[in-house]
Amino acid sequence: MKYILDAACGSRMFWFDKANPNVTFMDNRQYYEKLPTGHIVDVNPDVVADFTEMPFSDNSFYMVVWDPPHLIHAGKTSWLAKKYGKLDQDNWQTDLSKGFSECLRVLKPHGTLIFKWNTCQIPMNQVLECFSQAPLFGDKRSKTRWLVFMKGE
Ligand SMILES: C[S@@+](CC[C@H](N)C(=O)[O-])C[C@H]1O[C@@H](n2cnc3c(N)ncnc32)[C@H](O)[C@@H]1O
Repeated sequence: MKYILDAACGSRMFWFDKANPNVTFMDNRQYYEKLPTGHIVDVNPDVVADFTEMPFSDNSFYMVVWDPPHLIHAGKTSWLAKKYGKLDQDNWQTDLSKGFSECLRVLKPHGTLIFKWNTCQIPMNQVLECFSQAPLFGDKRSKTRWLVFMKGE
């Protein structure tokens, strides 16, 4: 069993070691495209699955990192949507709420959840309203936020 789950790995851009053997990389798509803009979208997860219904047992991982799409407004063909995905405009609160619950479910007791968000379209407070727990600490001002949660805290 791997120690860490990346529950929406995309192109693994924030990883220093994109092939870290301690990580299960999950995304709901397998996709490769070299865009005319020069951006490369290379989504090649170990597990293709939905973060609202994860195929893992309860209490499986010591750490989960979750960087879901943060856009609700983006053309389907825009490079941002291709690279980072897009939330369902009508159901994003429910999907984030289910995703958060799933991240906690698959964490071991007192395991750590690292959550990443970009506030360009949806403010942080609206996202935190979808979650059953408050973060322990993290960025409070920057556009890109990294927040830390602990299961059971
Ligand atoms: C912001 S990107 C992740 C970027 C990644 N952290 C990186 O460093 O490159 C969000 C990813 O979530 C994926 N995604 C969207 N909905 C999902 C779902 N329901 N379950 C799993 N992954 C999903 C998208 O395909 C996209 O690759």
